[in-house]
Amino acid sequence: MAEKQQQGSNVEEGSSTAAGKVVCVTGASGYIASWIVKLLLDRGYTVHGTVRDTADPNKTLHLRALDGANDRLQLFNANLLEEGSFDAAIDGCECVFHAASPVFFTIKDPKAELLDSAVSGTLNVLRSCKKASVKRVVITSSMAAVTFNGRPRTPDVIVDETWFSVPELCEKHQQWYVLSKTLAEEAAWKFSKDNELEIVVMHPTMVIGPLLQPTLNASVEVILNLINGSSSTYPNFAHGWVNVKDVALAHILAYEVPSADGRYCIVERVVHYLELVKIISKMYPNISLPYKCGDGEPLFPTYQVSTDKIRSLGAELIPLEKTIKETIESLKEKGFFAL
Ligand SMILES: NC(=O)c1ccc[n+]([C@@H]2O[C@H](COP(=O)([O-])OP(=O)(O)OC[C@H]3O[C@@H](n4cnc5c(N)ncnc54)[C@H](OP(=O)(O)O)[C@@H]3O)[C@@H](O)[C@H]2O)c1
Repeated sequence: MAEKQQQGSNVEEGSSTAAGKVVCVTGASGYIASWIVKLLLDRGYTVHGTVRDTADPNKTLHLRALDGANDRLQLFNANLLEEGSFDAAIDGCECVFHAASPVFFTIKDPKAELLDSAVSGTLNVLRSCKKASVKRVVITSSMAAVTFNGRPRTPDVIVDETWFSVPELCEKHQQWYVLSKTLAEEAAWKFSKDNELEIVVMHPTMVIGPLLQPTLNASVEVILNLINGSSSTYPNFAHGWVNVKDVALAHILAYEVPSADGRYCIVERVVHYLELVKIISKMYPNISLPYKCGDGEPLFPTYQVSTDKIRSLGAELIPLEKTIKETIESLKEKGFFAL
């Protein structure tokens, strides 16, 4: 049963409760959202997916090709920056999975490129949810909104859902993506409280695993940049990793499990890039990998992230080794990498 859920193919169990239920996924063409759409269709839901341009084949063909899409997937145009843009897609939905948000790490104008879409965009979506009397909104936040608070992170420290990133610190260190996720979550909780709208907030760490979409997204590109011979060094940094299939399923469980509540960290394991390179080299001895640490400083320490709460939803986390293998095989299959 666990394996079936991991594969997202638990149609029989899901369909008994899902048949006839309509849910919405924002930013449906994105990396994580495409998997949420796939698993929802597999479970029997009818899905309203929002994309910025329903006429763009790069953003839509892989969704329209999913099993069940012909009958149960409807795509809508919607932009986070346009007030009321999500009304039509969300109308009639029991749950909204709000995944749309820009994911960029090189930024010239943080407000225009990231913050407006993340913060005002989230509020636009939540206003549409309130209007439509949506029962629960599952929001894709990030571990970025959890860990950036100046608290020491060492191998004995266990990060959990009580940690919050500090906006002033993000700003001081010009961590604009981290700030966008932190402020968006803050705004969402305030809206939820002021408007009695039920939200559950998911905090995945760096997400990798197989791609459904034809284009490369920022987090999978991190793996590509390690294996494509473009650098002799790896970053002196440690952070978490998790499989996109687990992230998608966790979102759905956060809707389906009535007692789901609050925030959920989704991290299979925290490793330093040195360890990551070792894992890849063991599985793919022919890949030419970075062989030295970027800055020559002492290795950035690892830390732990509690999986108790996410496992309490019934989620299981695919081991990092398998996730890395799936990522590299997917990059090969999609033509981004040749061995
Ligand atoms: N990947 C990770 O490692 C990771 C980790 C933690 C959290 N997250 C969060 O997960 C969510 C999805 O990220 P992803 O990794 O799947 O990235 P992605 O593939 O780049 O997807 C981002 C989605 O947001 C949409 N979007 C951006 N700006 C928009 C706007 N103004 N109006 C409407 N849609 C807009 C994009 O639409 P277009 O396709 O039209 O560009 C795209 O569908 C984000 O909230 C991200 O912060 C990601």
